[in-house]
Amino acid sequence: MSASIASRRKLVLGNWKMNGSLAANASLLEALKPVCTGAVAQVGVAAPFPYLSQVQLALAGSDILWGAQDVSAQASGAFTGEVSAAMLAEFGCRFVLVGHSERRSLHAETSEQVAAKATAAQGAGLTPVVCVGESLAEREAGQTLAVIEAQLAPVLALGAQAVAGMVIAYEPVWAIGTGRTASPEQAQEVHAAIRAQLAALGVPQVQVLYGGSVKSSNAASLFAMADIDGGLVGGAALDAKDFAGIVEAAGQAA
Ligand code: 13P
Repeated sequence: MSASIASRRKLVLGNWKMNGSLAANASLLEALKPVCTGAVAQVGVAAPFPYLSQVQLALAGSDILWGAQDVSAQASGAFTGEVSAAMLAEFGCRFVLVGHSERRSLHAETSEQVAAKATAAQGAGLTPVVCVGESLAEREAGQTLAVIEAQLAPVLALGAQAVAGMVIAYEPVWAIGTGRTASPEQAQEVHAAIRAQLAALGVPQVQVLYGGSVKSSNAASLFAMADIDGGLVGGAALDAKDFAGIVEAAGQAA
């Protein structure tokens, strides 16, 4: 993921969300390893906390990165149920999602907390994947770009050096798990706005991923857009064939 600093290599991350089992994870990873070895695109999976150790062992020596879906902004102490960035880093975790819309909506995470989590992640050497996205009501009210700008503001305020080591993921809430993908043009419009903000900060090379009902059937048209550097994939990341198709599409768009 450190490649994000210098390049906009295509990147496909699977977000397993709260899915999986020891057996299902083992067969999914075994199926993905040959597909992702030597792939043009960089590939990673974000697994639930209890399975990180299994994923670490299963992916040892492979090109597939692995990460977590959340991290505490705190270093240690009386925070029951939380997991620190240092704990994740200690056994080889490379990246962590922060500010996924499901965390923002179900756990009332604010953009300031998301920025604090990104800082904690970087402090332990993890790459934060900062997720932003508008709701359907916000899109219909014409507020999409303003919402994205507001969500990114506390993160961009961390400065160019910090942001250069992050990945941004644009995931419109209305497209997540709904089968309703943003059109490539709708996604590109937002990605271009995010890219402009990154450029203004002096870090135009930061990877910006699209997420929301990405499938092997629509990945190529999304990844062909100028400012879309890959995907953050939910449901289709649980299906080895579909995920492999997305990785392949990313490679062809590179
Ligand atoms: P789906 O691909 O299932 O729409 O989920 C997207 C997502 O939330 C990835 O983080």
